[in-house]
Amino acid sequence: MKIPTSRLDRLLANLGYGSRREIQMLARRGLITLDGAPVFDAEARMAVAPDLSARMVVDGEALDPLPGLVLMLHKPLGVTCSHREAGPLVYGLLPPRWRRRDPALSTVGRLDKETSGLLLLTDDGALLHRIISPKHHVPKRYLVSLARPLNGTEAGVFATGTLMLEGEEKPLLPAEMEVLGAREAALTVHEGRYHQVRRMFAALGNHVEALHRDRMGALALPADLKPGQWMALGQAEIDAIFAVKAPTP
Ligand code: URA
Repeated sequence: MKIPTSRLDRLLANLGYGSRREIQMLARRGLITLDGAPVFDAEARMAVAPDLSARMVVDGEALDPLPGLVLMLHKPLGVTCSHREAGPLVYGLLPPRWRRRDPALSTVGRLDKETSGLLLLTDDGALLHRIISPKHHVPKRYLVSLARPLNGTEAGVFATGTLMLEGEEKPLLPAEMEVLGAREAALTVHEGRYHQVRRMFAALGNHVEALHRDRMGALALPADLKPGQWMALGQAEIDAIFAVKAPTP
């Protein structure tokens, strides 16, 4: 495989370290090292190999992860995925420099402000589209707490693939529901419509009081990843997102 190269100043500018001029200054002061040796020339071309972050140090710290970054965040309640909603953004939970990356990190779909749990972020547009594309039907599992007890019909209705949400023209795809308690359920859906889970229970006369996503495909939110914490995913974890086959509609 051919390893791409980039000018050092462009690489670091795109990772959010500053303007090309600022990076030039860092290089001149010997604050950028590769395998322990200073790289004084900011215009030098670097092989952008996967191990570069382990070999390069910038101002005393390991180089940030290269583009192609995929993060799993435990989204806490009260933070939003979009500027369109009021409140602090999920991006504020990441290192400040990461907000200046180009390509930028985006959330893979969205969770409501009052939904917690597994949220992916990536700067890889192709991967993002693959995960959210209806074609791939990545199953998403939600743990739901309801205002009223389940009446026993919900799982059957959700499984039919005929439920219509208010204001929509196409019925929902079949979804699987497991009863966890009188007012608790796990619901797995294969699409991502606006406020989907809340609207599904509203369509049956109930009300979602708490919502938490704990799984996408075979990728589960680890118990030790606390609200607000995130981790970078490796290839095996990325593959796990696609590892569960959707039921044929
Ligand atoms: N369904 C919802 O209603 N809200 C979410 O955040 C995710 C799925």
